[in-house]
Amino acid sequence: MNENLVTVLFIADIFGKPGLQITAQLLPGLREKYQPDLIVANGENGVDGKGQNEKVAQQFFDLGIDVVTGGNHIWDNAGVYKVWQKDSRVLRPANYPPGNAGRGSMIVETKNGAPIAVINLQGRTYMYSIDCPFRIADEILRHVNRKTNLVFIDFHAEATAEKMALAWYLDGRVSAVIGTHTHVPTADERILPGGTAYLTDAGMTGPYDSVIGMRKEIAIKRFMRQIPIHFEPAEGDVRLCAVVVKIDRESGKAKSIERLFLS
Ligand code: FE2
Repeated sequence: MNENLVTVLFIADIFGKPGLQITAQLLPGLREKYQPDLIVANGENGVDGKGQNEKVAQQFFDLGIDVVTGGNHIWDNAGVYKVWQKDSRVLRPANYPPGNAGRGSMIVETKNGAPIAVINLQGRTYMYSIDCPFRIADEILRHVNRKTNLVFIDFHAEATAEKMALAWYLDGRVSAVIGTHTHVPTADERILPGGTAYLTDAGMTGPYDSVIGMRKEIAIKRFMRQIPIHFEPAEGDVRLCAVVVKIDRESGKAKSIERLFLS
């Protein structure tokens, strides 16, 4: 273990029970191999593929996950409001308009005693027209940078271009911009010239015998008939997607990024 590095393990969208099961199975080995100082997981689809509640959030924390990030689906289960009443470790995108419950960023202490900010943002292209993620990132960084240079961002967005644009916009100012939401892992992990680790999409930790997590027969029907048919979560071919980012403790610059796709 290098004292000057902070290792963040980010687990991609943990989808329902299959996602939690494979995380429980593989996380002990990942902890041993990578010795993460902080574990972050996207949990917007934790409850059977939609939202969060107290019981499932607790299961995330019992696995050793330190911070849970969200996205557009974090609002889908009303149980999340109860979580937010007493637990600040479950985030929702910071750029939802003012007046909403929950929060979109926090500073946590890593296992090796370094303060690190975790920020959750959401894109607007092909999604809700919420507040500008670029400007909200600036605003949050103004506060965060008084306390730490270590900043990890989960950018929950549909469009590749928007994710890449935000990463370039923040290059050198944050340690990592990792995309989520599409449930499909991309193979473009890299460190931008300013020292920001970037990956367009971390993928999904859940069933791949599916259409982005849902039963494929139902998804096909919905596309063909163009009417709302109730989605059901799939179960087969479960995999775990994750990213390991090593960050220089003093400068906050990323030193390495490694993408994992395990079954
Ligand atoms: Fe999403």
